Amino acid sequence: MASGEMVFLNGELVPYGEAKISVEDRGFNFADGLYEVTRIVGGRPFRVEDHLDRLEAGARSLEIEIPSTRADLLEAITSVAAANGIGEGIVYLRLTRGPAPRGHAFPEAPNPTLVMLARPLAAPSREDYEAGVAVVTAPDLRWGYCEVKTIGLLPNVLAFQRARSEGGFEAVLVRDGIVTEGSHTSVFCVRGDKVYTHPVDNILPGITRRYLIEVLRSEDVEVVELGIPVDEFRRADEIFLTGTTTAVLPVTRLDGDAVGSGRPGEITRLGIELYRRDLEEARKRAGS
Ligand code: PDD
Repeated sequence: MASGEMVFLNGELVPYGEAKISVEDRGFNFADGLYEVTRIVGGRPFRVEDHLDRLEAGARSLEIEIPSTRADLLEAITSVAAANGIGEGIVYLRLTRGPAPRGHAFPEAPNPTLVMLARPLAAPSREDYEAGVAVVTAPDLRWGYCEVKTIGLLPNVLAFQRARSEGGFEAVLVRDGIVTEGSHTSVFCVRGDKVYTHPVDNILPGITRRYLIEVLRSEDVEVVELGIPVDEFRRADEIFLTGTTTAVLPVTRLDGDAVGSGRPGEITRLGIELYRRDLEEARKRAGS
């Protein structure tokens, strides 16, 4: 936390040290809430309409009322970034059902909590993009509503920690023998000239994932939304991860073994390039 940091809390920008929420917040008691991580590019939120669509869909699923209009949310994301001098970074938005005496039933008159923090981007290193990263497989122990970007991330946290303790950048989750996604990224693999990624069926509908599918298809690359068995995944020619903080990142080791040639492959490098171009265009639009 930088000194002088400002936090958006329930409609106001307040100094970090004064941003307090109740000990009975249902986010704290039950992980009863949602979040979004939006990238800030050239001082403006990147693909923010997609993030707000996903937030609204999650809020409908969990029956949490968003205590703000869409225009006000957009304004708040931009202003918390500006108040913290974040031209390139992220805004982490969290919405919970708010404070209430502990009880499983929804409170009769909920008062949702909305918090936003703006932070510099903790992106992978240039070396990671050039050489690729190592990942490890871990069982996908999550629940049945993985489309919802809930703050209940303990299975993701445990899988990620296991990956980190084994020197991996990310955990690749496997459910019933099928690769689903990463602990905080979407996962793609390439076999021959085709790209595969799990369909949006009990995984997070990643915004970077959707962009990559569209842009690769527009470059005449065939992308198939299909769950790949982990043994076939191990024989992939290329593997890459996508996500708001990760962008498009090559994976060159899986559970200690080289992926394909052991170097980032052609389709992965195309994805990295297309994503970079899109970021550059967003920067230009922001500057104009
Ligand atoms: N994670 N899958 C999971 C489980 C995720 O948590 C995320 C995002 C993604 C990628 O989605 P997107 O492209 O919309 O960022 C896939 C965020 C960045 C996080 O938890 O920090």
